[in-house]
Amino acid sequence: MKYSLLLTVGAASLLAGCSKNNDFTPAVGMDGEAIFQAACAECHEADDGGYYFELTKTTDIGKTVRGGGLMMPAFPNIQGEALRSLEEYVAARSRMAE
Ligand code: HEC
Repeated sequence: MKYSLLLTVGAASLLAGCSKNNDFTPAVGMDGEAIFQAACAECHEADDGGYYFELTKTTDIGKTVRGGGLMMPAFPNIQGEALRSLEEYVAARSRMAE
């Protein structure tokens, strides 16, 4: 009885660990750059040319932000105009891999 309870609790915390969410919510009027500096820059540094990413044609910036990655947390509260503006900023500061 006790043992199965422990197992249940263990599985629940494992699941929570997989779906890491970052509850950052952009303030009204923040543009893509401001959002990036506040929520993303701690993990993503610009290279010497000022570029943050090397993207492929299949990279969906919005989907990455909303859904996260293997290591990257998801940002479900960045949406609408804020997400669009963030996507624009990230795209402008990325190199395209051929
Ligand atoms: C806690 C660290 C962390 C934060 C905060 C973070 N990222 Fe990431 N990001 C990562 C890691 C690690 C990867 C590599 C993919 C993976 O393993 O999750 C990544 C990958 C990406 C990619 C590349 C996806 C691809 O398919 O090439 C983009 C674009 C990106 N992040 C944008 C953002 C934006 C925009 C924000 C802010 C809203 C952000 N990241 C915040 C850690 C972070």
